[in-house]
Amino acid sequence: MNYVRNCFFFFYLIAIISCGNQDPKRFPNERSEMAVAMRNMTDAMIKTKLSLNQSEIIPLRFTSFNHNKFTDTSFKSDWFAPMADVLINNAKYFDNNPSLETFQTVVNTCQVCHEKTCPGPLVQIKKLY
Ligand code: HEC
Repeated sequence: MNYVRNCFFFFYLIAIISCGNQDPKRFPNERSEMAVAMRNMTDAMIKTKLSLNQSEIIPLRFTSFNHNKFTDTSFKSDWFAPMADVLINNAKYFDNNPSLETFQTVVNTCQVCHEKTCPGPLVQIKKLY
């Protein structure tokens, strides 16, 4: 019984670490594929945002991350995959129609999912607007 409880506590702790407030330059969680994919997307978003007022806009080219492993399986839910697909579609739409407005639609999709699943990175996400 204790073992089970400790185990839950352990996962809970990991969730706090990976979804807690983060220093924008320091991503504490080195563990999951999902976290790595998220970091790569965050970097891409920053580069693309900076390119918006230049002559050549850098496309996002996001690929599906539905099958990546999470730090904590409690992140898994029925709506995660559909929501992740919305992000990929909005990113594709931006790539085909790049503008500040379509970029912000992508940021909004990040925000909506994070409000439900993982509020820690919201600080970073809001800076992308
Ligand atoms: C479908 C839901 C969903 C969407 C959409 C989403 N995220 Fe996440 N994000 C998560 C979850 C869940 C985690 C925790 C993953 C883990 O630790 O395994 C996470 C983790 C992160 C992290 C922390 C990574 C780390 O080092 O621990 C950052 C930063 C992040 N997301 C940024 C973004 C950005 C930027 C976007 C939009 C381009 C985005 N996310 C879109 C669900 C989402």
